[in-house]
Amino acid sequence: LADRSAEFGPGVWVMTINKTGEKVNKLGRVALDGFKEVLPELEKNKAIEVLCVVSGKPGNFIAGADIDLIRQCTTSQEAESLSRSGQKLLNRWEDLPYPTVAVVDGACLGGGCEMALGCTALVMSNSSSARIGLPEVMLGLIPGMGGCVRLPRKVGLATALDMILTGKQLRGEQAFKLGLADALLPQEEFEAAAIRWARNNANALKAGKRLGKEPKLGGMGGPVGTLMEKTPIGRSVIFKKARSGVLGKTRGQYPAPIEALDVLMETGSLLGSSDRLRGTEREEAMAREAKGFAKLAVSEVSRNLIRIFFLTEKVKKANGLPEGREVAIRAVETGAVIGAGIMGGGIAQLFADKKIPTRMKDLTNQALALGVDSASRIFKRQVKRRKITDREMIQKLGLITPVLDHSGFRQVNLVVEAVVERMDVKQKVLQELEEQVGEKCIVASNTSSLSVTEMQSVLKHPGRFAGMHFFNPVHRMPLVEVIRGEKTDDQTVAGVFQFCKQLGKTPIVVRDAPGFLVNRLLAPYMNEAAYLLAEGVTVDEIDQALVEFGMPMGPMELMDEVGIDVADKVSHIMHAAFGERMAPAPLSAKLVSTSRYGKKNGKGLYLYEGKERKEKKSDPSIYSLLGISPKPGVVTAEEMVDRTVLPMINEAARCLAEGIVAHPDDVDLGMIMGTGFPPFRGGLLRYADSLGSRKVLEKLRKLVGKCGKRFEPSDALVKLGEENRPFHNPK
Ligand code: NAI
Repeated sequence: LADRSAEFGPGVWVMTINKTGEKVNKLGRVALDGFKEVLPELEKNKAIEVLCVVSGKPGNFIAGADIDLIRQCTTSQEAESLSRSGQKLLNRWEDLPYPTVAVVDGACLGGGCEMALGCTALVMSNSSSARIGLPEVMLGLIPGMGGCVRLPRKVGLATALDMILTGKQLRGEQAFKLGLADALLPQEEFEAAAIRWARNNANALKAGKRLGKEPKLGGMGGPVGTLMEKTPIGRSVIFKKARSGVLGKTRGQYPAPIEALDVLMETGSLLGSSDRLRGTEREEAMAREAKGFAKLAVSEVSRNLIRIFFLTEKVKKANGLPEGREVAIRAVETGAVIGAGIMGGGIAQLFADKKIPTRMKDLTNQALALGVDSASRIFKRQVKRRKITDREMIQKLGLITPVLDHSGFRQVNLVVEAVVERMDVKQKVLQELEEQVGEKCIVASNTSSLSVTEMQSVLKHPGRFAGMHFFNPVHRMPLVEVIRGEKTDDQTVAGVFQFCKQLGKTPIVVRDAPGFLVNRLLAPYMNEAAYLLAEGVTVDEIDQALVEFGMPMGPMELMDEVGIDVADKVSHIMHAAFGERMAPAPLSAKLVSTSRYGKKNGKGLYLYEGKERKEKKSDPSIYSLLGISPKPGVVTAEEMVDRTVLPMINEAARCLAEGIVAHPDDVDLGMIMGTGFPPFRGGLLRYADSLGSRKVLEKLRKLVGKCGKRFEPSDALVKLGEENRPFHNPK
């Protein structure tokens, strides 16, 4: 806390938040205690006329509450009192006898945003890293330090609901437009300008004037919006719409947004103006918020989501090597991609998006044009969604240099090969490449099914070569499997691992074996769906059962997305590698023979029509085409889930025993990030643990009797199941 009146004029004080020993500010125990300590001084200091809160961390205001505090709560009472104590601090803060101004450049999220909402005004920078939001729902929680109470009063009910229910983060411009930020100032000299703004507007703020834009009531503003928000009928329409939107999106699997809705609704009699609440009204509203927060904080869903959050944090600190092994690595400054197809184009786009100048090589100009076109389509969508500006798009696209030869390759730090999936072609391409790149260049292959070790066998420098398996579509799928071949050295594994993080992806290190991790686990899942189909279960029934379970799409739709021909090819590779348990379902051959390849030719298990084949339709003729008579209801949804999901658990147990991945956490992360396995279930093996390994074993044994030997439990699972031990060590 410092008196800055000498620089900025009488009465201007500044409080700096700067968590020692950390890169970002978090509201943890220390920060909260520090806050508690400084409050009495703030309350009685008569010299302060306006107080600005700034961050001592460049590019970060307060990233949120310290989630460890929440994780440590074992009962809802503990969680409630945690929330209550945070609320009380911010209430006292809100009640300070002079205006307070949050000076926000960088992330202002969760508890940080709640603190800013407790200030009289909020000034934001227009920098691209300045973001504000309440992302608590992402962790299965709701804001618990007054965010649910204060946000609607500042920006209106519709906007607040939109922000709290989706957890979206706003840039300065957006926050200003919606009335959340009271002023938007340029990033250059931001802090000083913001403090001057506070000084100049101190009197107006003290008088309770609103300096920012009027909120967009009803989400639209104007008289209709006002009517919507200020009448009970209008408000009930807003809530109803929000509730059906949430239920449609979450299928009731995520309780947090529903709780948030209830909290906003039940404190709703107090809504309708942008005034701040004080006294008992505020108390009651806060108490309701704390109850909602506490209930969620100890729920299974929130525990699972928080666990995944910590898993991704762990990846951020890891280097991809066994514990204790360290190597020095360099950041990748320039990259290259060979092959400008579906994957190559996507990878080049990703590199450019992360501001990495990239060479993209293919055999013909036509192929290169397709690659550039697919990259530019992704950027255009980002422009449309206002994620980037037109100018940024042009700059980023300009970072991709299409080439027909290896010109410029000598300077690149990392090359990803993404040519056709043929060993002979890949080996040749890699041998040629070796001669064209610098000594320290890392070389990676995006192969989805071929052996990295076999590719290495023809290379002069196999140590610097690894697999870097991106998933399709590259810009959306967060996982990258980093494949360690027999001769891949530590430097390369750590280099690729680090580079994945530089690209904003989540890497897991996987041993070189057929299907790596994710495709190997998916194989029995997809195959079983074909068995179910052959038994007369309808395409829609199968997909519905798995979507209800929480998968982003069912296995039938997934097959169409991947391509039925591609899925068939993979299934044969798996069969060859793992034998009978992975033998393709008899229906598979028939499926391929129909030449319905899936979404790419508009016809697969479903029909795809309209722009970019986005309209998916059921097709009753598929059954006669495959010679099946559909028998709706022949298998229950529960059995469908068991038959498709339990074999993945069984296979995961094998993968762990074989050291394909080092830890059950890798399986959970891999399946969530690579297939969209429902995050609220905490990952595949967390789900297995919630059932109990004995139960999984029993169910598999029953399925052997009913459906066949492909369900035979693996030795690893038998061992766990017989002792009913979990995959994850209990904490
Ligand atoms: P694609 O067929 O769309 O593209 C391959 C590109 O490589 C074509 O543009 C072709 O002209 C080019 N090419 C072929 N030989 C070349 C050479 N000697 N030099 C330079 N360019 C050459 O294939 P796609 O789907 O992009 O797959 C590429 C790789 O990525 C494969 O290894 C595949 O297994 C893998 N992969 C594919 C996924 C998918 O969903 N399509 C997912 C993950 C990995």
